[in-house]
Amino acid sequence: MSLQQEIDRRKTFGIISHPDAGKTTLTEKLLLFGGAIQEAGAVKSNKIKKGATSDFMEIERQRGISVATSVLAFEYEGIKINILDTPGHKDFAEDTFRTLTAVDSVIVVIDVAKGVEEQTEKLVEVCRMRNIPMIVFINKLDREGKDAFELLDEVEQKLKLRVTPLSFPIGMGYDFKGIYNLWEKNINLFSGDSRKNIEETIEIEDIASADLDQLIGSEPAQTIREELELIDQVYPKFNREEYLTGDLQPVFFGSALNNFGVRELLDCFIEIAPKPQPKSSDTRLVKPEENEFSGFVFKIHANMDPKHRDRLAFVKIVSGIFKRNTNYVHVRNKKKMKFSSPNAFFAEKKQIVDTSYPGDIVGLHDTGSFKIGDTLTQGEQMQYKGIPSFSPEFFKYINNADPLKSKQLEKGIDQLMDEGVAQLFTLELNGRKVIGTVGALQFEVIQYRLEHEYGASCRYENLNVHKACWVDPLDDKSDEFKDFKRVKSKFLAKDKRGQLVFFADSAFTLQMTQSKYPSIKLHLVSEFETQAN
Ligand code: G4P
Repeated sequence: MSLQQEIDRRKTFGIISHPDAGKTTLTEKLLLFGGAIQEAGAVKSNKIKKGATSDFMEIERQRGISVATSVLAFEYEGIKINILDTPGHKDFAEDTFRTLTAVDSVIVVIDVAKGVEEQTEKLVEVCRMRNIPMIVFINKLDREGKDAFELLDEVEQKLKLRVTPLSFPIGMGYDFKGIYNLWEKNINLFSGDSRKNIEETIEIEDIASADLDQLIGSEPAQTIREELELIDQVYPKFNREEYLTGDLQPVFFGSALNNFGVRELLDCFIEIAPKPQPKSSDTRLVKPEENEFSGFVFKIHANMDPKHRDRLAFVKIVSGIFKRNTNYVHVRNKKKMKFSSPNAFFAEKKQIVDTSYPGDIVGLHDTGSFKIGDTLTQGEQMQYKGIPSFSPEFFKYINNADPLKSKQLEKGIDQLMDEGVAQLFTLELNGRKVIGTVGALQFEVIQYRLEHEYGASCRYENLNVHKACWVDPLDDKSDEFKDFKRVKSKFLAKDKRGQLVFFADSAFTLQMTQSKYPSIKLHLVSEFETQAN
């Protein structure tokens, strides 16, 4: 197959949702359709069990599973589908944000009873900002939930999406009869039997026909006719271009647990979802079909074996063909590297591969040379953009608890930060080190891993910081900037890349500082177009 054909048959996407909406269940059903797994229950849930949120051993367990589920690949109707795992738990939100830089589209799963939840809002916002094409799947229709129109309204308002239903439920919960598929113009009757792989599909070209009454009863038939008429009047027609530019989001209804409505979702997905897309680097836009290989690291996973510090760097291939045992350039540290055992991912297995194509993910063994965001090329000097850090939510000083192990501590912190477990800041005034995390849980994880993997011990000390803001002066020689640096010196730090960061101790301080120094922009994300350029 030519490079172009390989690109054309690939779809790389992520499923995002609030925990418990049904992401794992849906993933599993998709794999079942692809024949990648044989039975339900094969995909282990990588979520943190309820009630275990402060148990870091649970996180360790979870890390083990999440290597296996980081990338799940399968083939369906000749299409190679790569699903990238996006943890729903908020303490891992940063991981998910980074993974979203490696997907070409997403499926958003919403629980019919709970509607739009907090994590979904945050994740969809990131996708919206990047115009990532999204399909919405409203799950658990076998249960009583919100009215379908009410839910569509909620999705439009809370997630700020422009939706169009491509399927619509007939009844719900106890009265759930099935789904009318507007995309394929047919009806699937719900039998509640999760063992069935394919539901009964009945073509209904004309919903006015009496066949519909016979099939589902006169009352439900009349209701669905009215609902479909309303949909026709209220919602925009589906248009693939608008979907691909992130301007329109099709919605499907179903029940992942009952394997209902999943085939419809998958069939539509393979038809409309984008193939691997071009990506911007700091010098140019790189197209997948270019001959030269390039890719970037979006995730690093430490090995579970504490005695070996080897890690797996997940590289998304952006262009060309990745080949085993071939020299590539690690652009940041200008080193040539070749990989003798690159892993590709299939369902739950990983396997050494000789070649991989744009859209695919390869797992490269690494002993510490990769950082999140690093670019590999065939020699071209360019760096892929768009792996931002967000302001952490929790901050603590980190102190060395064992003076004889300061080297180990430094190395451990350094490597954990490269992996993206947390962010490290160094205060300008006194050089003290501050760790910032998205969840409170990470502090325990860091302490535990420093001890077990690096033989170092640390102590934390509280620090009152509300947000870390990346400082972006219009003119770094201006008096205003000099004044800012002098007045705020106690609250200034450098991040790992040497960028200047301001620690605001409250939302009020942040607001006051921004209005006192209007020419200095304070960003909550590390990647921004600088004002000075
Ligand atoms: P997550 O990955 O998004 O966190 O959700 P997951 O798939 O683990 O699903 C969360 C719970 O919702 C699970 O139940 C799962 O069985 C259930 N679920 C998923 N899809 C459906 C559906 O279509 N209908 C109904 N009624 N339930 C659904 P659990 O009791 O928390 O876990 P388990 O013991 O069943 O694994």
